[in-house]
Amino acid sequence: MTTTPTGEHRTGYMFDNATDEAAHQLRHLGAILDPGTRWTLYELGVRPGWKVTDIGAGAGTLTTWLSDQVAPDGHVTAVDLDPRHIPTGPNITVRAGDIRHLRLEGSQQAIVARLVLMHLPEREQVLADLVRALAPGGALVVADWDCTWRDMIRRSPSPRATQLIEQFQDALLSFGESRGADMGWATRAPEAMLRLGLDNVDSRIESRSWRGGTGICLLHHSNSIQREPELLTAGMTPEDLAELRQVLMDPDLMLSGYLMHTTVGRRPTQA
Ligand SMILES: C[S@@+](CC[C@H](N)C(=O)[O-])C[C@H]1O[C@@H](n2cnc3c(N)ncnc32)[C@H](O)[C@@H]1O
Repeated sequence: MTTTPTGEHRTGYMFDNATDEAAHQLRHLGAILDPGTRWTLYELGVRPGWKVTDIGAGAGTLTTWLSDQVAPDGHVTAVDLDPRHIPTGPNITVRAGDIRHLRLEGSQQAIVARLVLMHLPEREQVLADLVRALAPGGALVVADWDCTWRDMIRRSPSPRATQLIEQFQDALLSFGESRGADMGWATRAPEAMLRLGLDNVDSRIESRSWRGGTGICLLHHSNSIQREPELLTAGMTPEDLAELRQVLMDPDLMLSGYLMHTTVGRRPTQA
């Protein structure tokens, strides 16, 4: 990680769970993405007794679902830089820490990392650490958005609305890249997992559309509040941002989400 003379991190996660808006942002992510990720975990056979870890657990929506699936004798560890939004439970351990430096307990039946690795410049080193923490036959689920795919506007209420959404996307994604995020990493995750020797590597790629005031539009609304200072620095005005937020709540708008790549691989049962 790069550190400035003042100690501020220049690379790493582009949002901040400590902001007032973060609880909304993380809840929107769960609402948009949990159905797809749960389906993948269900197909993997998650069941009572499994030891699993949720990396960058955010609001802990997957953590709590996993804790129900593995109960009564299984266990979920939820790791996050800032775990303040993760609920606790009898079979949940919450660990505060940076996955780039934490040592995970081994012999995990499943590890899920959703919307974390794309943010970390050290993603390949972290991926190798996650593979080492799997039990033989254990499954790694890496889910990230391909934000290089930008054909997202299914219906726009006006040319001005289209321009504001594109300006917002350009500014937000450029800010993420300046912090070390790789907006196209999701498409390369399968190759990275194969290189690490995982078996049965497979990706599910999905998106859906949302009207203004729902799903991805609410997430963009929330992100525009969380990263307002950077959007202003990038040239948007306070009036632009107010107008953008109105557009994002307009039912005449329809946006697709970014493409979510959920890639699964299994640690071989024999070395
Ligand atoms: C975009 S949110 C995704 C939350 C959740 N996985 C989801 O998909 O709903 C990313 C989460 O990863 C956490 N995170 C970011 N960098 C991390 C790191 N280096 N180590 C541990 N957690 C990290 C953030 O604090 C945040 O809660």
